[in-house]
Amino acid sequence: MPIPEGLTAAGTRDRPFTPIWPVDDLPRGAMRRFTHGDLDLLVAHTESGLCVSDDRCPHMAAPLSIGSLDGCVVACPLHRGRFDLETGETIQFPTTGGLDADGRYHPPWTPMDGPPKAEPTDLKTQARALTRVRRLRYYPVRIVGGMIEVQLPD
Ligand code: FES
Repeated sequence: MPIPEGLTAAGTRDRPFTPIWPVDDLPRGAMRRFTHGDLDLLVAHTESGLCVSDDRCPHMAAPLSIGSLDGCVVACPLHRGRFDLETGETIQFPTTGGLDADGRYHPPWTPMDGPPKAEPTDLKTQARALTRVRRLRYYPVRIVGGMIEVQLPD
């Protein structure tokens, strides 16, 4: 899957490709975390191919690898945010509301099937409103000799 324009992770350019797993270990529809030093990566085998991004939700950094994958859309295990791995765009804004990548405000919402939530304190309301959902960053990935290889930063 090609990386969306402008969303390549910093520090990966001109880096060597590092083999991580046999591609057979990650069937289509599966996701796993790969850790390199203090870097946690999400490796997803989507319907459009492999992609590697940070294993941190662009909202509040929850591990996307324990969420769910539907086609090319990953659902975060917290706050119901959903993100299109093919485009890097937010498909469903988190329940908490907040700012999108362009700085536009989105109000909080309550899931239809969830229990009513307690009103947050003023400070929590402010923190949620000021939390920006950034765009995902991607790491170049390829398959060589049946192995998944990724360009990792220094
Ligand atoms: S941490 Fe993922 S939607 Fe909030």
